[in-house]
Amino acid sequence: VRNTTIGVFDSGFGGLTVLKALLEVIPDAEYLYFGDTARLPYGSKSVETVARYAREAARFLEQQGAELLVIACNTATALALEQIRQAASVKVLGVIEPGAQRASAASQSRKVVVVGTEATISSHAYQKALAAVQIESREKACPLLVPLVEEGWVEHAVTEQVARIYLDEAFCDGFSSADVLLLGCTHYPLLKPILHRVVPENVTLVDSAESVALAALNLMVSGTSNAEPGQLDGVKTLGVRLSDPSHLRFFVTDSVEKFRRLGTRFLGQEIRDITHVDLKE
Ligand code: DGL
Repeated sequence: VRNTTIGVFDSGFGGLTVLKALLEVIPDAEYLYFGDTARLPYGSKSVETVARYAREAARFLEQQGAELLVIACNTATALALEQIRQAASVKVLGVIEPGAQRASAASQSRKVVVVGTEATISSHAYQKALAAVQIESREKACPLLVPLVEEGWVEHAVTEQVARIYLDEAFCDGFSSADVLLLGCTHYPLLKPILHRVVPENVTLVDSAESVALAALNLMVSGTSNAEPGQLDGVKTLGVRLSDPSHLRFFVTDSVEKFRRLGTRFLGQEIRDITHVDLKE
């Protein structure tokens, strides 16, 4: 897997949580990250619009030399994965299937609550992927959480209150026995401490960022993206190449400065090599 070029696509900053997970699992790859910051958020847009943006981004990453595409954005995966696959000539991995598989491995009660943007939830892409692995799901759109994370309020009483309201509404009635909360949005891994506090005690948080990183590793090593539960913990010891960011290149459609500032919070390390790009519509 050394020197393989992986293209990571997201609507903006959030996909850096996926890049962070990829760096832990596949530290030796070369990474091209595309953040469509001028056109975010995707989470409130239509299928047609998101699919067009995503195809353009995929084409750009391929032109830059990506040999595998990871669609970090849950909304783009939910709305346009098939269209991206058709437009691309390299393998394309989305976050939803790996997330659903990991949720299935973690659930005893076979009931899972999924949270995501308005567009992801109304597509029911997670519900379908979970049904395919015999999991009953309740989907809950949490549109206020993305702006709160981007504001930096990841440990804030207001965010905790908002999360509590959303999740109390989800973990009730038939779903009070749900034992997994599937984080179906790039921004939510940053809210793990708060989310742990507001869900019932026995609930496991499953992060689609970690799941897709493991699926990418499996795809590169064995040609299949089927993630074995628990495998990630072992490969994590490979470590992060924190000291050498030369294998990371970033492309954004809006301000380079803003990406550097906000992105550091998502990636947990300084972001250096950022290029502004304009995509033709
Ligand atoms: N990246 C999006 C997702 O994971 C969240 C931000 C947006 O709406 O663009 O669904």
